[in-house]
Amino acid sequence: MSSEPNVLLEIVEPSIYRLTINRPKALNALNRATIAELGAALATVAADHDARVLLVTGAGDKAFVAGADIRAMQDMSPIEGQGFARETMAVFRQLETLAIPVIAVVNGYALGGGCELAMSCDWIVAGENAVFGQPEVNLGLTPGFGGTQRLTRLVGRARALELITTGRQIKADEALRWGLVNHVFPAAQLMDEALTMARQIASKAPIAVRLSKEAVQRGQDLDLDNACQFEAQVFGLAFSTEDKREGVAAFLDKRTPSFSNR
Ligand code: CAA
Repeated sequence: MSSEPNVLLEIVEPSIYRLTINRPKALNALNRATIAELGAALATVAADHDARVLLVTGAGDKAFVAGADIRAMQDMSPIEGQGFARETMAVFRQLETLAIPVIAVVNGYALGGGCELAMSCDWIVAGENAVFGQPEVNLGLTPGFGGTQRLTRLVGRARALELITTGRQIKADEALRWGLVNHVFPAAQLMDEALTMARQIASKAPIAVRLSKEAVQRGQDLDLDNACQFEAQVFGLAFSTEDKREGVAAFLDKRTPSFSNR
């Protein structure tokens, strides 16, 4: 048994967190212990009022996450398999509903549970070496960490079903064309580019960023009238912040705003 943590959590710059799935010898495959550590790391980020952005990546230069741990699933009973899926889905939902933006930095294989982890982030940036897919049918399995649902919502039913039923894996450029990935960068520059994006977010009014994410996420599950109503409430709430007063005043004074997260 390795004494290395399965999940590393660092503050790489003030207010910018990076979470790394750290099982490079198994291409960062997700077992129960890793999922539990992921949940604990997310709770730490959620409790930090100064956190502005979270980057999620995989250790090594070969894989983001190559899926659920196949070895660990070998002897699972149906009930245990269902439990593994439920526990993981709850943690992925914790990730998805984190108040701050979460960017998946996909540095290699993102297969099965790895693709599902990336899709639970707010958006994906990928290295040119990234590979996406839901190859569960090769194992006699179905996606189990939200893939049938999130992939369909992201790329549409036809493309999702093609990937899920053929097990075909797509490279970063095709994922970009499909809209699964927002940007593709040379592998060596990927983390720097993700950090540049994170700094940009961290420089904005933090409460406005969090409220915007909430409006987009909640609105997706509502009809347009109720979603726009929710947006109006969120917009009104932003008027109560110190940062709105500062942001508007700075614009009118032609100076850079200094936000206080209040
Ligand atoms: N689980 C457990 N171990 C894994 C793994 C996984 N998902 N993926 C890779 N590994 C292990 C390999 O067993 C190997 O370990 P050993 O050195 O001890 O033999 C090590 O990682 C390196 O892998 P490979 O030698 O296979 O590396 P490769 O470069 O030849 O191939 C790969 C890379 C194409 C990603 C290949 O490893 C692969 O196909 N992995 C499985 C991908 C997969 O099927 N993912 C879906 C899993 S099921 C799932 O995720 C269900 C769900 O939705 C919840």
